[in-house]
Amino acid sequence: MLDGRLAPAETRRLEQQYGNEELLYGLDLIGVGGPFSRVTPWELEDERGRRRINASGYAATPFGEMPPVLTEFLHGYLDHNRAMGLAQQSSSPWRAALEANLVRLLARELPSHEDSQVFFCSSGTEAIEGAMKFAKAWRPRARAFISFSSGYHGKTYGALSLTPNPEYQDIFRPLVPGALTSPYGDLQALRDLIRRLGPDKVIAVVVEPIQGEGGVNIPPPGFLSGLGELCRQHGIVVIADEIQTGLGRTGHWFESAAQGLDPDIVTLAKPLGGGMTAVGATIVRGPIYKKMLGGLSSKRHSNTFGGGALAMAVGLKSLEYLVENDFPARSLELGKQGLAHLQEVQRRFPRLLETVRGQGLLMAMQFQPVVGLPLPGALKELAHEATAILALRELHNAGVMANLSLSSKRTVRLTPALDMPGDVFTEMLDRVERFAQFNPSSRYLLTNTPPQLLARLAAFAASKPKKRTPSDG
Ligand SMILES: Cc1ncc(COP(=O)(O)O)c(C=O)c1O
Repeated sequence: MLDGRLAPAETRRLEQQYGNEELLYGLDLIGVGGPFSRVTPWELEDERGRRRINASGYAATPFGEMPPVLTEFLHGYLDHNRAMGLAQQSSSPWRAALEANLVRLLARELPSHEDSQVFFCSSGTEAIEGAMKFAKAWRPRARAFISFSSGYHGKTYGALSLTPNPEYQDIFRPLVPGALTSPYGDLQALRDLIRRLGPDKVIAVVVEPIQGEGGVNIPPPGFLSGLGELCRQHGIVVIADEIQTGLGRTGHWFESAAQGLDPDIVTLAKPLGGGMTAVGATIVRGPIYKKMLGGLSSKRHSNTFGGGALAMAVGLKSLEYLVENDFPARSLELGKQGLAHLQEVQRRFPRLLETVRGQGLLMAMQFQPVVGLPLPGALKELAHEATAILALRELHNAGVMANLSLSSKRTVRLTPALDMPGDVFTEMLDRVERFAQFNPSSRYLLTNTPPQLLARLAAFAASKPKKRTPSDG
């Protein structure tokens, strides 16, 4: 068992019995439940020997699976490292090096961050929790956090409160008080909301420079720079959630900086762990950092595992690999080719693909609904969810592993590794094209699915408890 030789069927059985049964059952139904094994960093194989190009991983596998650059580094680390593993009560050379490198990288793009400091944790949602606490400690008398429609910031209570998705929020109400939603990309609406609340009442505005889980939404030009200017006038803290966009995914080191925003706090996670371990970081302007963690209050926010040496070492090596190869620039260029190809597929198959979007190696395909008829609320939601699930299955059958989008039901995203070789990338897009040829309209996503499987999927969906109420405020 410990050598990874648990048979695939037994793996699935144990997972369904002792783990997240419903999720794994659902994935298994559509044939994407794995377990998969690595063939190359960019290609995976199922138990029947079928290979898939991996464009999945939720933007957290910047170099694919088990990249040699990290595995070789780790052998050396395990053989030679003598620093403490979890140095909570002392300094650590690995943590020091990653802190310094992250701040210097950010300050290279945004010189006002030269005095920033870093707080490490072990997930994206935890980086957001930290950011919320830093902001609140900075503006203790203010009450409101503003985030945006279709935004996604995580699922712990604070981050969840900023993630306006009824599916994730509703049964957990009341959420963190004062969490409000403004329409993404609409600067005037934000201005109006801040004026209505009173600028002194607003702790922070939390924004993804490009929304990932919301379906790859790129804001209109001027939105982010205008947001920054508006908040600066009133002293409102700006938190840029770069957990999905940061470190090259969308073609820049920091997407917010590229779009003219100079945030007070930047959150990072996903790619910082190189796809091998969990590293989250909250980078904070010096004075804001010191306000929460100053003097004897320096333990006001803490965790056990954040900053652990192994995680820091992997983070540092990942950063080095990103910098030495300038992967953000590559991502921007490759992404242009990818988007052009997807646009061509969309043009040829408009009854399958409503639209495609993307920047860098964060690409989205939004499908036409499988049921074209007008449907009432809950059924419409279900039909939209079914669309993406069936598309995921068909893409998989065509040899491409893709991602669902947690806050955009009809959107499937492609997030290939930033170092995916050019020929593998082209093959991935050719496979997407073949998938479209086989499913020239969304209706085929249904008719290409065996009726028995459709019946099982319908039974699975019907057993889901669902309650939906408006999510604002
Ligand atoms: C922009 C953004 N913020 C926060 C998160 C939460 O990160 P995690 O899943 O590591 O908690 C995600 C995850 O998808 C994300 O995309």
